[in-house]
Amino acid sequence: MAEPGRAGGQGGAGPAPRPNRAALHGARVLLGVSGGIAAYKAAELARELLRSGAEVQPLLTAAGERMVSRATFAALTGRPVPASLWDDPAAVEHVALARWGQVLVVAPATAHTLARLAAGLADDLLTNVALAFPGPVVVAPAMHTEMWQHPAPGPTSSCWRAAASWSCPRPPAR
Ligand SMILES: Cc1cc2nc3c(=O)[nH]c(=O)nc-3n(C[C@H](O)[C@H](O)[C@H](O)COP(=O)(O)O)c2cc1C
Repeated sequence: MAEPGRAGGQGGAGPAPRPNRAALHGARVLLGVSGGIAAYKAAELARELLRSGAEVQPLLTAAGERMVSRATFAALTGRPVPASLWDDPAAVEHVALARWGQVLVVAPATAHTLARLAAGLADDLLTNVALAFPGPVVVAPAMHTEMWQHPAPGPTSSCWRAAASWSCPRPPAR
């Protein structure tokens, strides 16, 4: 896992870094899955984390759930996957989950979710957990290059504005 609080990786080119499986053993990982086409890869990521001995709590956005079902993640991880912020109000789940997790990984992170996270918006379970979560956040932006490179206060600037507290890959060279 990348060092918390630092931007890492080169975004795109080069071989994927090898996971440090020993470091992940026993780790409690909050896995945010937003609605990019790469959501199918998050299922494999969950499996790899589990193989490393981590516990994985999936948190899907509504669009993420349109890509891959909650049932898939529940079956893979052996944990219930909450449908929304409002599943169990008495449990105040977003706070309980934020306290449970040791690291928050958002993979894939859509342009929309990156912007929400960077702006501190809290309009669904994932973003509420993120806001309540004091630990390290690792984001894996995934979108078309045009979206990533858009000059509006969108994905790239969201990522870098927040890079002081997130692990975020470097944008590809233009
Ligand atoms: C087939 C399809 C693929 C998409 N892939 C991406 C993607 O890779 N990255 C992205 O940022 N948005 C992608 N989107 C758009 C997001 O689903 C949309 O912005 C959504 O509002 C994101 O919501 P969320 O961030 O809350 O999950 C895709 C949409 C569709 C229909």
